[in-house]
Amino acid sequence: MYLAPLGSLLTLALVAVGQDVSIAAVEKAFFAANLPTNLSIVFKPTALIEVSLPQATGPPILLHAGIHVPRNDTAGPPTFHVVGDVGEGPFVVATVDPDAPTPQDPTEAQVRHFLGGNFFNHGGLLVNATPAVSNWRQPTPPAGSPPHHYTFLLFKQSLEFATQTLVDSTTDVDNFNISAFASAVHLGNPFAGTFMLVAPEPTT
Ligand SMILES: *[C@@H]1O[C@H](CO)[C@@H](O)[C@H](O)[C@H]1NC(C)=O
Ligand SMILES: *[C@@H]1O[C@H](CO)[C@@H](O)[C@H](O)[C@H]1NC(C)=O
Ligand SMILES: *[C@@H]1O[C@H](CO)[C@@H](O)[C@H](O)[C@H]1NC(C)=O
Repeated sequence: MYLAPLGSLLTLALVAVGQDVSIAAVEKAFFAANLPTNLSIVFKPTALIEVSLPQATGPPILLHAGIHVPRNDTAGPPTFHVVGDVGEGPFVVATVDPDAPTPQDPTEAQVRHFLGGNFFNHGGLLVNATPAVSNWRQPTPPAGSPPHHYTFLLFKQSLEFATQTLVDSTTDVDNFNISAFASAVHLGNPFAGTFMLVAPEPTT
């Protein structure tokens, strides 16, 4: 009988419960959820973004595309890693909710849950050298709604992003449009992404 070394068993366990490991699987999950259409984006990922949600106790939750995360575990703020030969940056990270207030009637969509630039690649860890444009906003899908798709997108930062005046920390987070924003500030298409599904807090 072949006994696998402990290390490879641990690796298998991480693959099963951890972050995204396959660009093709991420792309498939985005298309299965209709996210490229719903967000009006071209999604042809060439790298992986790893999103970690810190927890009050215990290890962080590592996202993979389509994971369900309890709302109470999404306080964040998340940290980001990039996997791939992507250079040192700078990069822009955006998180949007296309399903607000409900996927059936998304009159407030997209809601901007995070927008930050000047992220630099420190051995995979993305560290932002300037404050975020929009700080992390915890998901709050309203009671009765199906789960929302909180979608993280990673872009190469353009020169125009640094001088953009379309969005600042006081701009309403509702009715944002990542496609229109990316186009206006010449971000191009996202080169990595992932998403989590968060349902309303259970009521008693
Ligand atoms: C919800 O989150 C808060 C803050 O992280 C934590 O103190 C609390 O125990 C959590 N409640 C549940 C039911 O998990
Ligand atoms: C996203 O696409 C699906 C499938 O076409 C649709 O049912 C859903 O309502 C869409 N969501 C939004 C917010 O447009
Ligand atoms: C967002 O902007 C794109 C153009 O970049 C447009 O096609 C799309 O309809 C807009 N989405 C929303 C929800 O307004």
